[in-house]
Amino acid sequence: MADSNNSVSNDEILLSVRHLKKSYGDHEVLRDISFDVPRGKVFVLLGPSGSGKSTLIRCLNGLETIQGGTISFKGEPIDGREKTWRRLRTEIGMVFQSYDLFPNLTVAQNILLGPTKVQKRPKDEVERQMDGLLADVQLSEYRDAYPRELSGGQKQRIAIVRALTMNPELMLFDEVTASLDPEMVREVLELMLGLAEHHMTMIVVTHEMEFARRVADTVLFLENGVILERQSGHDFFTHPETDRAKAFLESMAPISDGE
Ligand SMILES: Nc1ncnc2c1ncn2[C@@H]1O[C@H](COP(=O)(O)OP(=O)(O)OP(=O)(O)O)[C@@H](O)[C@H]1O
Ligand SMILES: [Mg+2]
Repeated sequence: MADSNNSVSNDEILLSVRHLKKSYGDHEVLRDISFDVPRGKVFVLLGPSGSGKSTLIRCLNGLETIQGGTISFKGEPIDGREKTWRRLRTEIGMVFQSYDLFPNLTVAQNILLGPTKVQKRPKDEVERQMDGLLADVQLSEYRDAYPRELSGGQKQRIAIVRALTMNPELMLFDEVTASLDPEMVREVLELMLGLAEHHMTMIVVTHEMEFARRVADTVLFLENGVILERQSGHDFFTHPETDRAKAFLESMAPISDGE
């Protein structure tokens, strides 16, 4: 895996969220959310359905307007203007549950679009980077294929490569394996584990608990739009503090054989 451009410096805070509020009409979906993500760390967002995980991730990429609080990136508060977010989206990559590749473009065209058109980088340089990343994920032979010719797992890995080719400093993942067949989940999770090993700063929503346990430096457990629990990955999975988190982990445990 090509190393990310994140040199791990001493506890630099890459992303800082303070008192973030998000509502849809009268419905407060996120209430007073505050946390700091140091560069090079992996934060995993866990919590029951409807607790606000996707909404939070979307706020961090400017896909939702916020009703209160601040989001700062590299020490600068983000002013919330679309122009600012357009610039920041080249530094904050995001991959969703549904692979959002353009169906009418080849894999290479999908990947090259952002770096050459938005970032205006030289095509040959971006192509070299792309070819290296495609080789890393063993998808070089699909360079000129169309998304319809790829499996779900392959599409999702291409979506991740596409985001990485922008050289993001922060990656946001929202249930990227949720719509994959089980045998394709592993290849995507392994790619993400590799990114974590290379100190990519990541915020990850996942229902894959074994993966979460391995990858999380910090777990934020959300319920009803608040951070109910904030612990190191190890502590959260070995001794969650709240009954709510304990019940959540039990509900996510593999089905036992009934003994
Ligand atoms: N566009 C929207 N308009 C109105 N309400 C919304 C919208 N998007 C989300 N919500 C509400 O916000 C709350 C949080 O939703 P969100 O999708 O963030 O939850 P989640 O934690 O990601 O859940 P899941 O695990 O099911 O993906 C829910 O009550 C949901 O109904
Ligand atoms: Mg969600």
